[in-house]
Amino acid sequence: MKGIVFTEFLDMVENQFGLETVDEIIEASDLPSEGIYTSVGTYEFNEMVALLQSLNKKVNISVDDLLHSFGHYLFISLGKAHPEVIQSYTSPIGLLYSIEDHIHVHVKKLYPDAELPTFKILEKTETSISMVYSSSRGLYRLAHGLIEKCFEHFDATSKITFELLKEDGSEVKFDIVQNGQ
Ligand code: HEM
Repeated sequence: MKGIVFTEFLDMVENQFGLETVDEIIEASDLPSEGIYTSVGTYEFNEMVALLQSLNKKVNISVDDLLHSFGHYLFISLGKAHPEVIQSYTSPIGLLYSIEDHIHVHVKKLYPDAELPTFKILEKTETSISMVYSSSRGLYRLAHGLIEKCFEHFDATSKITFELLKEDGSEVKFDIVQNGQ
């Protein structure tokens, strides 16, 4: 997993719970990297799992809910770090439609060793999109948060439902409908 995901995660934890909590979860997680990340480095996905579990124990918020709110935070962070990747889009559905074929393709050029999910589009209209998230990492609640923030970015809101196609969350169908103005 790319370092930018770790640095942004620890920034979110610092903003929401304070620097002491950052130190405590790093200490409790027994990390090969010792909690030292650079945005372009690459680290074991297990380190993120360990940090999420330590934070869950410390603040008593479920890992699912932590991932969901991290999705909100991460959309803003990625947009700031790489404005050129999202600035050509004029609608949230247009942006979501392009994750697989444009956005993450561009990300792969920026970070050749990025491990990205796939999004298979099942249906798309002007105001709705259905797609299947697939990733062995099962971070569909992170995807959920990213999608919500994507609508906010365009001053829009949406109704998002999801259905686990595989119990471990490695395949999840999202049905997304943009709310009327
Ligand atoms: C990773 C979804 C937009 C850059 C991920 C992951 C998810 C995701 C769920 C976690 C990895 C996994 O699940 O296997 C989305 C969604 C987006 C979006 C739903 C739009 C709403 C973007 C944008 C950028 C970006 C705009 C860059 C400007 C990345 C990077 C990673 C990532 C750098 C980390 C890869 C790694 O750790 O190796 N994305 N993404 N994504 N995405 Fe996206």
